[in-house]
Amino acid sequence: MSLHIGSIAPDFEQESTHGPIKLHDWLGSSWGILFSHPKDFTPVCTTELGRAANLKSEFGKRNVKMLAVSVDDVDSHKRWIGDIEETQNAKLEYPILGDSDRKIAKLYDMIHPEANDTLTVRSVFFIDPNKKIRAIITYPASTGRNFAEILRVIDSLQLTDQHKVATPVDWKQGDDVVIVPALQDPEELAKRFPDGFRAVKPYLRLTKQPKESIKS
Ligand code: BEZ
Repeated sequence: MSLHIGSIAPDFEQESTHGPIKLHDWLGSSWGILFSHPKDFTPVCTTELGRAANLKSEFGKRNVKMLAVSVDDVDSHKRWIGDIEETQNAKLEYPILGDSDRKIAKLYDMIHPEANDTLTVRSVFFIDPNKKIRAIITYPASTGRNFAEILRVIDSLQLTDQHKVATPVDWKQGDDVVIVPALQDPEELAKRFPDGFRAVKPYLRLTKQPKESIKS
């Protein structure tokens, strides 16, 4: 099945290092990121899982649950967690799904046969509280992901859900945002953006990030 932005994240039940997880029930009303790893006891994955663990409070602040998956089984994951905690100075408190049957890998199209027949690529699925996939990023096994970028995407999704804005190139917390082109009504513009905006072009209007949405 090919998954797109806007698709409902396929539900599943699978064993994890925290016991069985039924995705939709486990997410509840939270956001979630489901991120795949090619294999246990591999160097890049070890650093990624450690970084994710160390960013627990940042994900928590944004009401995002983290869920990792790797094609090995749960016993292997549990042994690997010891290495991750030792080498990355981290406490790994989120679950890792076992996937030796490749159920999740197949359901989420995480195996790219042109890259490797059996190992998953590095995918991240961003899932909102309605269980919709809101963004997908995919890297090859040789390229570790940037977890600051993952947080930045979540910030953009959550901000643009609440305000009629979009985030421009390289945007980060506190930077100016752009007003969506569809918003043209002068009264609504004045109400939504009381501090005004700067029209660089009629279609490129910049305004301050709404204060209450800034995460420190
Ligand atoms: C790694 O996580 O280091 C890795 C996994 C598979 C292929 C290459 C690197």
